[in-house]
Amino acid sequence: MRCLPVFVLLCIAASHVDLSSGLKILGIMPLHGRSHYYPFAALMQGLAEKGHQVTFITPFSPAAPIKNLDYVTLDKTGLPAGEMLSFDEISKIFGGNSVTDFSFKMLGVFIFKNASKTTCDDFLSSDVVQAFKKRKQHFDLVLTEAFHTDCWFPFAAEYQAPLVHFTASLPMPWYNDRFGQPSNPAYIPNMLTGFSMKMSFYERLQNMIIDQFHKFYFDYIQEPTNDEYASNFFGANKPDRHDIANNASLLLINTHYSLLGPRPFVPGLVEVGGIHVTKGPKPVPQNIEKWINESKDGVIYFSMGSMIKGHTFPEEKRKIFLKAFGRLKQRVLWKWENETMPDKPDNVMIQKWMPQYDILCHPNVKAFIAHGGLLGTTEAVHCGVPVVVMPQFGDQHTNARALEAGGGGVVLNFREADEEMVYNALKTVLDPEFNKKAKELSARFRDRPMSPMDTAIYWIEYVARHKGAHHMRTAAVGMPLYQYLLLDVFGFLAVCTLSILFIGIYVTKLFFRLVMSMFSKSDKKQKKLKKN
Ligand SMILES: *[C@@H]1O[C@H](CO)[C@@H](O)[C@H](O)[C@H]1NC(C)=O
Ligand SMILES: *[C@@H]1O[C@H](CO)[C@@H](O)[C@H](O)[C@H]1NC(C)=O
Repeated sequence: MRCLPVFVLLCIAASHVDLSSGLKILGIMPLHGRSHYYPFAALMQGLAEKGHQVTFITPFSPAAPIKNLDYVTLDKTGLPAGEMLSFDEISKIFGGNSVTDFSFKMLGVFIFKNASKTTCDDFLSSDVVQAFKKRKQHFDLVLTEAFHTDCWFPFAAEYQAPLVHFTASLPMPWYNDRFGQPSNPAYIPNMLTGFSMKMSFYERLQNMIIDQFHKFYFDYIQEPTNDEYASNFFGANKPDRHDIANNASLLLINTHYSLLGPRPFVPGLVEVGGIHVTKGPKPVPQNIEKWINESKDGVIYFSMGSMIKGHTFPEEKRKIFLKAFGRLKQRVLWKWENETMPDKPDNVMIQKWMPQYDILCHPNVKAFIAHGGLLGTTEAVHCGVPVVVMPQFGDQHTNARALEAGGGGVVLNFREADEEMVYNALKTVLDPEFNKKAKELSARFRDRPMSPMDTAIYWIEYVARHKGAHHMRTAAVGMPLYQYLLLDVFGFLAVCTLSILFIGIYVTKLFFRLVMSMFSKSDKKQKKLKKN
C-alpha cells in the first residue's frame, strides 16, 4: 500500500474528468465521540482532496486548515468534543458487564433516548447551525452520520439533495428496513447482542426479539421527540421523517466481511471498513519509537480506547496486569491519562496520547490489549497485530467475537480476569503461530479491488451523477411488513389448502353417504323382497 502514491495520483488524475468532480458536499457529524469522528473526518478529507468543495458541521475542529474543506465547528455541546468516561461511569451507564443478561441487551437501546435528545437539542438550538441554515446555499449532496437519531436528516430535503449516510459501526437495526437490506435474524446478530453468526436456538430467539424491539423503540418511543425538535427547526413544511429516511441513497459502512462476517448486501449498502487507514502509517514519535526499537522481544500496546479513561482503571486490576506483564519478556506501552502511575515497573511506559495506528503498524509491536471498539479493531487487523480484547459496551462484544472467530485475537472477560488469565491470554497471542493467523486475517482484510477510500468516493460520486441513484433501491423499501414477510401469500395459500381439504372431506363424506344410502336402500329392498 505504501509504495503506491504515484499510482493513486495517476488514478485520481485519470478519473478527474467526469461530471461529478467539484461537487458541493455538506457533511454533518454532530456526535462527540472520536470513534465516530475519525472515520467520518477521513472521508471528508478524502472528498476534499479529490477536488470537491466540502463543508463539515461537527463539534471538532481540524489540527490545521485543509484545502477545499470548511469546518463549521459547533459551539453548543453537552459534552466537550472527545470527552472521555471513567470505568465507573461506563458501568453506571451500560449496566456493568452483564452481557449475558438478556434485559441488558434488550435495553441497550435505552441509552440512545437521552443521548439522542441531547445531541438533537444541542445541534438544532446551536447559534452556529441556526445561522448556517439562514444562509441561502446550495449543496449537491448531504452526507450524515447514521447512528442514533434522524433529526438533522431534513437538511437533505431542505437542499433537495441526495442523502448519503456513513456509519462508524455496523448499521443500527432500523437501517435494514430503510434500504430493504435482508437481515435474517437466524444468522445476522443484532449489533448489541454480542452474538456470533452461528447462534443456538435460545440466542436466535433473543436475537429476533431484541432486533424487533430496538426497531419499535426507535420509531415509536425515541424519535417522535427528536422529530418535534426537527419540525421546530426546519418548519412545519418539513417532509415526514419516514419519507426522508426512506429516501436515502447510499449507506457507507465502516466494516468489512473479512472481519465481521459475510452477509448479503443490497447495492445501496457499501462496505468501506478501514477508510481511516487508507493512508499508510506515519513515523512514530521519536521518544516512543526509541523505546519500541530498544525492546528486544517486541512491545505490547495497551489502550482502552478514546471513550474510557485509562487511569480510572480499577486498582486491583491494574496490579494484576502489572504482575502478568512482569512475567513476559515484552515491554508494554500503556495509554494512561495521568502524569504518573504508582510503582510503575521499568518494563512499562505510560503516555497520555499516542498515535495508535502508527504504533500498531510498527514491526516491533507484537500484541494489542484493547476494548474492541471498531476503530482500534480495524487498525489492529489492518496492521496484522493479534489482540487481547476486553469488550465493555455497545458493539464491542460483537466485534470481539468476530475478531476471535477470524483468528485475530482472544476475548478476555475483564471483570473476571486474574493474573493467570491475563498472562495466558497474552502468551496465546504472542505465540508465532497466532501471529501468523493474525497476518492472514490482515491479508484477507486488505485484499480488495479498490481501497476503502476510493470505494466510498466512487459511490458518492455515482449517487451525484445519477441524481440520487434511486434505481439502486429495492422494492422492499417502504413495503408493509405483512407483504415483506409474505404473510398475505402464506395466508392465501393456507386458506386455499384448508378449503381444498374441507371440500375434499365434504365430497368424500357426501360420496360415502351416497354409497351407504344406496347400500341401505338395496338392503331394504332385499329385506322387503325376502319378507315378501
Ligand atoms: C429524495 O431524494 C431526491 C434526490 O435524491 C431529492 O431531490 C428529494 O428532495 C428527496 N425527497 C425527500 C422527501 O427528501
Ligand atoms: C528505529 O528503528 C528503525 C529501523 O531499524 C529506524 O529506521 C529508526 O530510525 C529507529 N528509530 C529510533 C528513534 O531509534
